[in-house]
Amino acid sequence: MPKPVLYIVACGAPAAPDLPPFVAEMQAAGWDVCVIATPDGLKFLDREALEARTGHPVRSRYKQPAEPDVLPPADAFVVAPATFNTINKMVHGASDTLALGLLNEGLGRGRPIIAMPVVNADLARHPAFPASIDVLRRWGVEVVGSWAELPGAARALLEKQART
Ligand SMILES: Cc1cc2nc3c(=O)[nH]c(=O)nc-3n(C[C@H](O)[C@H](O)[C@H](O)COP(=O)(O)O)c2cc1C
Repeated sequence: MPKPVLYIVACGAPAAPDLPPFVAEMQAAGWDVCVIATPDGLKFLDREALEARTGHPVRSRYKQPAEPDVLPPADAFVVAPATFNTINKMVHGASDTLALGLLNEGLGRGRPIIAMPVVNADLARHPAFPASIDVLRRWGVEVVGSWAELPGAARALLEKQART
């Protein structure tokens, strides 16, 4: 049986030191993990270390039409950290980063998505932010509040997937 594939989408907010242990935890839970970064997300992660750990390239830009797909298709997505920018763009269907394009396709295909926004108090109070979170929840996206909540949410996903 091939392992289910989890795309971890990392946006432009501090991700170290939480991202590598989360990747390892998801691998231990049975996922084949691929990391997708937004162009700004790349600044916050150790690309080489994540590629070595996952065995997959860290993708951040759309490929040329003639280039092959280098990643297996996603069964589920975790967006962590999820920025104010990407959360708000997602609810408008913007696809100007590969990360958003993959999330939008995943949403359209009914793939489960968990998002962990990381925003400061001012951005959290901006009226667009709670409105976007409400929309995402209505669309079936699970929104969690911290790295600590992610493994439990992802485990529940895996169990649900095994039953379907
Ligand atoms: C050092 C630094 C820290 C940042 N931290 C955050 C953050 O915690 N949350 C956030 O929403 N944006 C943060 N930003 C701003 C985002 O990187 C910026 O809005 C970017 O356009 C997000 O692009 P993305 O959503 O495509 O990743 C930070 C930027 C810098 C330079």
